[in-house]
Amino acid sequence: MKVHVLTDNRSVPGGPRGEHGLSLHLESEAGSILFDTGQSDMFSGNAEIMAVDLSEVRMAVISHGHYDHGGGIPRFLEVNGSAPVYVHRKAFDRHLALRSGGRYEDIGLDPGLMDDARMVLTSGKVRLGDGITIFSEVGTEYPVSESNRSLFAGSEGNVRPDDFEHEQHMIVEEGGKSVLITGCAHRGIVNIVAEAKEILGRYPDLVMGGFHLRIRPGSGEDLQYVREMSQALSDTGARFCTCHCTDDSAYEVMKEMMGESVQLLRTGDILEI
Ligand SMILES: [Fe+2]
Ligand SMILES: [Fe+2]
Repeated sequence: MKVHVLTDNRSVPGGPRGEHGLSLHLESEAGSILFDTGQSDMFSGNAEIMAVDLSEVRMAVISHGHYDHGGGIPRFLEVNGSAPVYVHRKAFDRHLALRSGGRYEDIGLDPGLMDDARMVLTSGKVRLGDGITIFSEVGTEYPVSESNRSLFAGSEGNVRPDDFEHEQHMIVEEGGKSVLITGCAHRGIVNIVAEAKEILGRYPDLVMGGFHLRIRPGSGEDLQYVREMSQALSDTGARFCTCHCTDDSAYEVMKEMMGESVQLLRTGDILEI
């Protein structure tokens, strides 16, 4: 399996430009898969730079209903004429971020896309065959990121904290190895890894994606949370490639705790698994 990081918050020096968002391209035995599109058309320009042919993509999976993961869906529909786009049925609900001054900003997907014939609306666990599984129901045993606190759902006047039921994750099993891929891991990466273990019967070999962590007293995680989370991840024996919304402040602590079992992914990176 080969992974091309088409867009991410960080970039390989001298490589293609990145943006706040995530888009991964996977070449697997099951064919080529796009996981998230980032927020703009940038993923398709970077795919050209990285010699990835998006017209060959067999399926696209959108991790959740935030613009920085599905903002590029219209571009994908242009450059690929047939692949289904798997999106959770709640991903087109309205999603908001609370900004300074008490203002809510719409950070959702374009609801007009929901009626497009290429959208496949998912819920629960979906086995797509050829070792590909999408799942959205995740336990709540482990505390989730404090950084979620500024994220809401609903419309103005009827705003509620986001429960992230619109979030889904993907498992790819191939050649005796399993890879778990997350977008932002808003439901908590430890909870998501635990659910993947339930599905697989063992921990995944590799976990890849954004973990939505930043150490910032008051509006983010505290140091102790990230340390305990790093220990819990280390105990799984899996390897972790994190990116996107895993802030440098959190990554430094993870690296200190987890050593070689964690690494960063950036726009332009190519990973052979
Ligand atoms: Fe994100
Ligand atoms: Fe998100």
